[in-house]
Amino acid sequence: MSIEAGLDAMAQAAEAAIAYRRGIATAETTPTASYRDILDAFDGPVPNAGAEPAAILSELIAQATPGLRGSTAPRFFGWVIGTSHPTGVAADWLTAAWGQNATAIASAPAAAAVEAVAARWLLDLLGLPAEASVGFVTGATVANFVCLAAARSEVLARVGWDVEADGLFGAPPIRVLIGADAHATVHSGLKFLGLGARRLTLVDADEMGRMRPESLAKALGQGTGPAIVIAQSGQLNTGANDPFAQIVPIAREAGAWLHVDGAFGLWAQASPTLRHLSAGVDGADSWATDGHKWLQTPYDCGYAIVRDAAAHRRAMAFSASYMPPAADSEREPSAFVPEFSRRARGFATWAMIRQFGRSGVAEMVERCCAIAARIAGRLAAERGIAIVAPVELNQVMVRFGDDDAATLATIEQIQADAILFAGGALWRGEWVMRISVSSSATTLDDAEVTADAIIAAWRRVKTRFPSRSC
Ligand SMILES: Cc1ncc(COP(=O)(O)O)c(C=O)c1O
Repeated sequence: MSIEAGLDAMAQAAEAAIAYRRGIATAETTPTASYRDILDAFDGPVPNAGAEPAAILSELIAQATPGLRGSTAPRFFGWVIGTSHPTGVAADWLTAAWGQNATAIASAPAAAAVEAVAARWLLDLLGLPAEASVGFVTGATVANFVCLAAARSEVLARVGWDVEADGLFGAPPIRVLIGADAHATVHSGLKFLGLGARRLTLVDADEMGRMRPESLAKALGQGTGPAIVIAQSGQLNTGANDPFAQIVPIAREAGAWLHVDGAFGLWAQASPTLRHLSAGVDGADSWATDGHKWLQTPYDCGYAIVRDAAAHRRAMAFSASYMPPAADSEREPSAFVPEFSRRARGFATWAMIRQFGRSGVAEMVERCCAIAARIAGRLAAERGIAIVAPVELNQVMVRFGDDDAATLATIEQIQADAILFAGGALWRGEWVMRISVSSSATTLDDAEVTADAIIAAWRRVKTRFPSRSC
């Protein structure tokens, strides 16, 4: 099989991808084929013989497309998903085509250089300390893990324990204090780090899911020794920020490392009008955030940011004789991430910041929040629909007929109508529909179409729940 035929397949893929994205604005947001349908289409024994690239691509496109979820559509509000902006996708195509292994300056000089610049730009946009180090990882889950590995290393080093050399066996215990409404993925990071679930102290949260500073102070005051506090910028359901201006001094006074999971909420920092929401967050010791949410990079892309670059490097760096070390003054990409071989995520990150610029990022984040507020305002005016928490950022929680069954039935109807996509979540033990406005493709007009479609779905569903209609 010639390389030339493979190159033609690249053009075929580009053409199909562009056609897909051209059609996405009007496409249905729910796939027309199920997981099972797609499994059946692809399933079969390992092929004995290879195939022509053009035929492979045609097969892939024809069989996979019906099962694609319209996550890049303007009215896709499920989970917290950016639009995989075409500019970022284009940069990512080049990333794949260039085939750079972004381990080191030696293996990929251009990738390492662009990553170094993108890291600086990220710190600037997010209003974080210029001396912090940035690791480019798969997403906020791994970013949380990396930051917490640096935290674990440093709080133990301060009491004379070298966790990199001696592990956790016999180590002084670390107290980990985490907000009661933290994201589930932070807990998985803690699990990988040997900081088990039963050892955590859950700190009370308020009705918006914000950590209560007085509860944190009390919990920290009940013990001594190495401590890590995990706070949050952007609670998944409410979008709320923890009160950093109060939490930072409490953590500092106790000598604790303060980590912030800011998968999406940290991007409020990029907007002069929204920055007040996360005031004080720059006083933390580490931050995890995503590129594939509010920066709109394609999957996968996240950033592990640590104020103390030496702690970050100590937790992650390694050496191999066949990798010439970078000069001391240079930033080696693999020193800040768990992987050795890795994708050059700096290219797409650089391209997206270059695409939007400082003002464009701010405008997009502000627009998403304005759209969320507009949708919430329209829905709140409809009888039987309740907005469960004030809309602080870009997340909206909606409940129908103040009833779990009515809410789930309305979500089902909305997904079947496929004008928009939103999913369900449990909040304080009750089902809600969660709308996350996190795509740069969404417009204020989409807010109206969305509200109209949700109201229409509810009016049809509520006839089945007559006692829940007002
Ligand atoms: C608050 C928060 N933290 C962490 C994560 C995990 O991010 P990722 O899926 O990019 O790893 C998410 C994902 O939605 C999130 O909302």
